[in-house]
Amino acid sequence: MPLPKINPTTTKAWKKLQEHFKEIEHIHMKDLFAKDPERANNFTIDWQDFYVDYSKNRITEKTKNLLIDLADEVQLGQAIKDYFSGEIINETEQRAVLHTALRSPATEKVIVDGINVIPDVYNVKEKIKQFTNQIINGKLKGFTGKVFTDVVNIGIGGSDLGPAMVVDSLQFYKNHINTHFVSNVDGDHVNEIIKKLNPETTLFVIVSKTFTTQETLSNANTIRDWFLQTADELHVSKHFVAVSTNINSVQEFGIDLNNIFPMWDWVGGRFSLWSAVGLSISLSVGYDNFDKLLSGAHKMDEHFKKESFKDNIPVILALLSVWYNNFFKAESEAIIPYSQYLNQFATYLQQGIMESNGKSIDRNGKPVNYQTGTIIWGEPGTNSQHAFFQLIHQGTKLIPADFIGFAQSLHGNQDHQDKLISNFVAQTEALLNGKSREQVISEYNSSKGITESEQNQIPFKIFQGNKPTNTIFIKKLTPESLGKLIALYEHKIFVQGIIWNIFSFDQFGVELGKQLAKNILHDIKNNINANHDASTANILNYFQKNN
Ligand code: F6P
Repeated sequence: MPLPKINPTTTKAWKKLQEHFKEIEHIHMKDLFAKDPERANNFTIDWQDFYVDYSKNRITEKTKNLLIDLADEVQLGQAIKDYFSGEIINETEQRAVLHTALRSPATEKVIVDGINVIPDVYNVKEKIKQFTNQIINGKLKGFTGKVFTDVVNIGIGGSDLGPAMVVDSLQFYKNHINTHFVSNVDGDHVNEIIKKLNPETTLFVIVSKTFTTQETLSNANTIRDWFLQTADELHVSKHFVAVSTNINSVQEFGIDLNNIFPMWDWVGGRFSLWSAVGLSISLSVGYDNFDKLLSGAHKMDEHFKKESFKDNIPVILALLSVWYNNFFKAESEAIIPYSQYLNQFATYLQQGIMESNGKSIDRNGKPVNYQTGTIIWGEPGTNSQHAFFQLIHQGTKLIPADFIGFAQSLHGNQDHQDKLISNFVAQTEALLNGKSREQVISEYNSSKGITESEQNQIPFKIFQGNKPTNTIFIKKLTPESLGKLIALYEHKIFVQGIIWNIFSFDQFGVELGKQLAKNILHDIKNNINANHDASTANILNYFQKNN
């Protein structure tokens, strides 16, 4: 069934939410907590090893019910069924969207064009497993008979960000293999990486769904040339493997058919780390851990599919985001993991969220008359506290934030963990309550009275509070819990796309720049400068003179 095509602003729930917003807009969350001792319990979802407290949001039970009515009116329930069952929900590209099938059990059936895709998924998983084991145990060797010590993932966007984020996040579980990522077409990136490598002991994984991406092919060719300075053409097949849907082009590059890990057009780039695109994850942490990542994601899939909306983590987080984006007119959302391991998590989510929901044409082909995709940004705490938290606490913008933390530290350094978590908890408490004038005054040494300069300082020391946060507290960072966390955000993206009546799974917006870059490259290579606006012509001229 095609996805429903309902303009959310025409629903009854939307109109009621607009009215309700006027009641809520000026209420302080502090007062909501004071009124309702059960608030924290009522607005918490305790699921498996996840504890999700969303009580520090500018909502009441009525807000939640109206948001759920909105989800019902835009037929989210039916859309979720279509999403998991292989319907062509990526209509603009005429494809199913089935990254969830990559983590389904072998017994499940998911039909695309009349064929169950699960056996194929499991064949590729088996290939990943065998290959991973042979690289890790040293059975597969480089062209001089040495075991592999390094892996380089060559890809960009979804063929880089997902694997890079997971490899970094799971470094505690890593084996002896060092993994590197080359993505940018900036030649300094690839050169900085290869200068550390020995061609005899390095395996290159070229990841490109299309195998046409300029950055990836340029980097792959540069690396191949560098490799051939030491090795022969016939050694390429020992050191280069590829993940792609474009088998012909991969073979033309010189890669052995056996060394191609297939993927499918029903896996979108930014949702592909669960496929063979995750090969570098498997090589870095072992196949069993890769499989645990997938099974964690599957658990979140089941939760999302089966749980009622009122206790459904991705649905609730998506609805809250719509509430702030469309009613409070918040422009951005911060993601603050209190774990240095999740250093790349916000960057990874930027592609997932902004490439998916940065759309302004609705599913009827009409321009939307409401806001869609949120701007995502963030950095781990506590570092970010010393960087941009000032603006969240006392600036003029409303920035809802997700605080993600892990109760147990992996290295067991308890003193550090206690300090980390005290900051994690303190920040959301501060953002909720703020600090009143009375509290500021009480902190001065009142026995001496307040000096004039202290008096002048008072307004600057007041915190309004009432800043919304979600706390996603997880027992421990493991491959499985990370899988759950990533899948949570994938489903949040889906829900928001359904509510905003947009197509979340295409990305035509990245094409224009690529096209023009080709024209400009032609100008640069031929030393011409034609058919550009005056500004572009001048900039190009500056390069041509100074390069
Ligand atoms: O930048 C657009 C994009 O198509 C992304 O969606 C994708 O993840 C990336 O380029 C890389 O594409 P490919 O895997 O085909 O090289």
